[in-house]
Amino acid sequence: MHHLRVGVIGLGFAGETHTKAYLQVPDAEVVAAAGLEEDRLELFKANYGVRDTYRDWREMVARDDLNVISVCLPNNLHLPATVAALEGGKHVLCEKPLARSGEEAERMVQAAIEARRVLHVAFNHRQRGDMQTLKAYIDEGGLGRIYYAKAYWMRRQGIPGITSWFTSKEMAGGGPLIDLGVHVLDMALYLLGEPAVTTVSATTYAELGPRGRGSRKETGSQKFLSGDTNYEVEDLATAYMRTDGGATLQLEASWAVYGNWGDDYGIVLYGTEGGAEIAVKNYGWEDTLRIYNDVTGIPNVMAPRVTRGGYHQAVVREFVEAIRGGDWSAHVGREGLRRARIIDACYASALEGREVVLDGAAKD
Ligand SMILES: NC(=O)c1ccc[n+]([C@@H]2O[C@H](COP(=O)([O-])OP(=O)(O)OC[C@H]3O[C@@H](n4cnc5c(N)ncnc54)[C@H](O)[C@@H]3O)[C@@H](O)[C@H]2O)c1
Repeated sequence: MHHLRVGVIGLGFAGETHTKAYLQVPDAEVVAAAGLEEDRLELFKANYGVRDTYRDWREMVARDDLNVISVCLPNNLHLPATVAALEGGKHVLCEKPLARSGEEAERMVQAAIEARRVLHVAFNHRQRGDMQTLKAYIDEGGLGRIYYAKAYWMRRQGIPGITSWFTSKEMAGGGPLIDLGVHVLDMALYLLGEPAVTTVSATTYAELGPRGRGSRKETGSQKFLSGDTNYEVEDLATAYMRTDGGATLQLEASWAVYGNWGDDYGIVLYGTEGGAEIAVKNYGWEDTLRIYNDVTGIPNVMAPRVTRGGYHQAVVREFVEAIRGGDWSAHVGREGLRRARIIDACYASALEGREVVLDGAAKD
């Protein structure tokens, strides 16, 4: 299992980023890639030395000489591609969100358990330099007990192509909450030490998207679904969550709002010994972290000089370490499942107009 022979499914931003990351891993090669765009298949061959290309991902997954598959498809295809790969004995790195729903994510985790293979989810933003610095500071006790957190990802005009798969409820499972919110939910739960979310009260809005406003106007060839002009998902979601440790979390995710945003995300944490804030503007990484405490009773602000961090490269490194580490049963996608169930609860709460209580399964 030391030599990794990888197949990548999906040739958009995610598929290309995974491919570049594998190229940095010793004793790993991207042997095959699958996707619908001929020009992208040619580009993967020319730029990344991918030998075999497929239009039909099932044909590629059926190969018995591959031992790793990256799933970088629209969200509705994460389940069938992941389960087929796991059942074929491959380890799988799946893009976020793990699935459109907790029920789908559960089936994927079960498939990993039954196949005795690794299922890892690409939560790349927790691998930022500021996140890793703050996580280490929290683990040293620097913030004390964290009792309140805010997490947001807000875009002023960032709907990823109105009429693309992203805006189809059937294909994406939801809008900015499942697309961007899952990243900052992951970042918050990671920093909080992975508490179980016990209740959720959420609201969703679709104010700009359905009127054709707020689009980033992407031109990716497969991003547009012919003849389908429906905007079926939210463009803003807000949620308030309680956790079993007592801490509460406020989450906001938007593709488009009239506000002072570019493409910005961040975290605010209040603890008994200190507070912290990560504020990322337009994917920047410098000067993003602030830590607040008292020095002899006087308010103090620290601005650590963070590095950029590893993003997908670090995700792939973790995935490969899990495969080569041998204890595959500890890496079956449970974090992705917990986040999927929380997002399910948010959509249910928004639909029903009331707080939703999650059962203990949200922890497991
Ligand atoms: N972690 C991150 O930072 C990040 C960033 C972008 C996207 N993503 C995730 O990655 C996934 C893909 O997003 P994207 O932006 O790369 O999308 P995209 O639309 O740019 O690319 C999707 C790819 O899937 C292929 N595809 C679609 N249907 C197919 C089929 N039936 N058979 C074979 N190939 C098929 C398309 O040909 C295309 O190459 C999504 O789940 C998204 O949430 C994650």
